[in-house]
Amino acid sequence: MRRLYYFIINQMIIQYFHHLLGNAIKKYAHLAMERTLDIGCGDKPYQVLFPKVTELIGTNSAEYYNELDQIPSETDVVCDDGTKLPFQNDEFDTVLNFQVLPVFQDMDAFFQEVNRVLKDDGVFFLSTDFLYPIWNAPNNFWRTTSYGLKLLADRNLFEVLAIEPLGGYYAMKGRLLVRFLRTKMACQMGKVKSSKGFTKLFHIFWLLVVILRTLTAPLWVNICLLAYSILDKVEFDDDFTTGYLIILRKKKDIAKR
Ligand SMILES: C[S@@+](CC[C@H](N)C(=O)[O-])C[C@H]1O[C@@H](n2cnc3c(N)ncnc32)[C@H](O)[C@@H]1O
Repeated sequence: MRRLYYFIINQMIIQYFHHLLGNAIKKYAHLAMERTLDIGCGDKPYQVLFPKVTELIGTNSAEYYNELDQIPSETDVVCDDGTKLPFQNDEFDTVLNFQVLPVFQDMDAFFQEVNRVLKDDGVFFLSTDFLYPIWNAPNNFWRTTSYGLKLLADRNLFEVLAIEPLGGYYAMKGRLLVRFLRTKMACQMGKVKSSKGFTKLFHIFWLLVVILRTLTAPLWVNICLLAYSILDKVEFDDDFTTGYLIILRKKKDIAKR
């Protein structure tokens, strides 16, 4: 039942955040060149956006995935610690890191490791959460502001080329709504199945409510998401953004160690 629920939410509800991040990436995708490393690549959802990338090596952490979500077949290298990458110095023209940063206990160590594997003038694309619930607990340590990201970049010898908020207040609401459905309600479903205190009649009634809500969710959620995307254009407030995409260039002078 939970698998069905995840299937409906994943397949039938607009992948709102995917659009937000995809549109931001497209503006800078021409900066990503030939040999590229994607740290925590998942199933490489943004690969198609990079026309100049000729070789995309993707890492994933085996520890991160579980029985609901198996390690993606797109994984080229299994690496459970992005702060210790199994690559040589100056190996890559570009490094990508989308929606992974909060898992690192030491964000500076991660930035330094990216700096190590990048060639001089190599470009680093990073996106991360500003307002989002905890995921991958307990290994979820940080939420960052645009100012915090710039500070991290600066003290780890990167030049900031661009920083883009990923939507405003309404985008943030839309993203939280989808996330709420995907996890909170799926958990309720599990609880309904196993709850002991309920009378049989109430149990059946509640199960029907949950099933009805699941089946109708794609309709009303997609309408909400459409409304939110319009409202974000009318009244944009990025103090409430979902997160950021930041584009960095490795500064030359620290390259030779
Ligand atoms: C939220 S997913 C993001 C996947 C993909 N980048 C995307 O945007 O769809 C988080 C990813 O972080 C990776 N990951 C989790 N813990 C990690 C760690 N300690 N070091 C490196 N990668 C890690 C996992 O392989 C997973 O694919």
